[in-house]
Amino acid sequence: MIRIPDTPAQEKKVPAYILGIETSCDDTAAAVIRDHYLLSNVIAGQAVHERYGGVVPELASRAHQQHIIPVVEAALQDAGVTKEMLHAVAYTRGPGLMGSLLVGTSFAKTFAMGLDIPLIEADHLDAHILAHFIEGPDHPYHPPEFPFLCLTVSGGHTLLVVVEEPSQMKVIGRTIDDAAGEAFDKAAKILGLPYPGGPAIDKLAKEGNPSAYPFPKPRIPGLNMSFSGLKTSFLYFIRDRLREDTGFISSNLPDLCASIQNTIVEILMEKLEDASSVTGIRNIALAGGVSANTLMRAMLTEAGTRNGWKTYIPHYRYTTDNAAMVAITGYFKYIRNDFSSQESTPYTRTTR
Ligand code: KG4
Ligand code: ZN
Repeated sequence: MIRIPDTPAQEKKVPAYILGIETSCDDTAAAVIRDHYLLSNVIAGQAVHERYGGVVPELASRAHQQHIIPVVEAALQDAGVTKEMLHAVAYTRGPGLMGSLLVGTSFAKTFAMGLDIPLIEADHLDAHILAHFIEGPDHPYHPPEFPFLCLTVSGGHTLLVVVEEPSQMKVIGRTIDDAAGEAFDKAAKILGLPYPGGPAIDKLAKEGNPSAYPFPKPRIPGLNMSFSGLKTSFLYFIRDRLREDTGFISSNLPDLCASIQNTIVEILMEKLEDASSVTGIRNIALAGGVSANTLMRAMLTEAGTRNGWKTYIPHYRYTTDNAAMVAITGYFKYIRNDFSSQESTPYTRTTR
């Protein structure tokens, strides 16, 4: 059950229609939510980055400028909501790429000011976590019970977060270098796979043997993690094998994908189990782009059965970047009167 925070929703219009806007990286997204019920969810990706093997910030902000108005119009239209019906506009303030964030921030500020409705800022990582509370027409509603532990794994961040309630989250572990998603993307690049690498590795790994190549796992004390050593050892391993056999990658691709994926997911799962032991929390959730990973999802379910956890795996659609998660974050802030100022500026790095 969602615990509605103590602050009463004074003079709040119920139901509340909230527009969410997400432009932190290379997806321009808008969504409309009625309380926590999702009415629309529109995402425009940016194919322009594919040929560069990664996101080019300048091109991302230009593409956001082109996409933002049609994407918002489509979100309103799909929801059957006019802009006059909106009660608030929520947007991602950070972390992310400055040029990308500025497009969403400026749009949201202008839109809220023009409609004379509250502006709400969302932290991108909080939003990934709160995606668990989205109710939709075509998926079961299975929100986590508080407090829960959320392994938040994306292209830029890897965090272990204790979630006491929607507005109270505490980071208890993090990567000390690369993010898990970055490890997937870099490994994929070494293998000559397209960006983003996570989905490509996931797909190929299905045909491979996860024990074919045992890569070393780092020993990092406490609940922190590291992925840069793994990336380097993978790079050197591939380089050395290619010297002996130029066709090494192509003849072993599924096994290589399955092995690197298995190592990344095992590092994450071991820390998640440690975090549950340390905190005593047994409500366990996943969030962020890497939570789309097939093995990650299966291993959480397996660990849940083994440890007697209640596990929460986000609907596939809310794992990678989207604006539905920003809209639900906006809803939680709306009912607490937690509004943003027109003077607030984007932040590129996490504040936690
Ligand atoms: O949350 P997200 O969409 O964007 C950030 O906030 O960074 O996460 C993107 C990351 C990328 O690194 C991508 O490779 C990874 O999530 N990812 C996956 C899968 N789908 C996306 N990693 C592993 N397996 C997947 N199926
Ligand atoms: Zn994200």
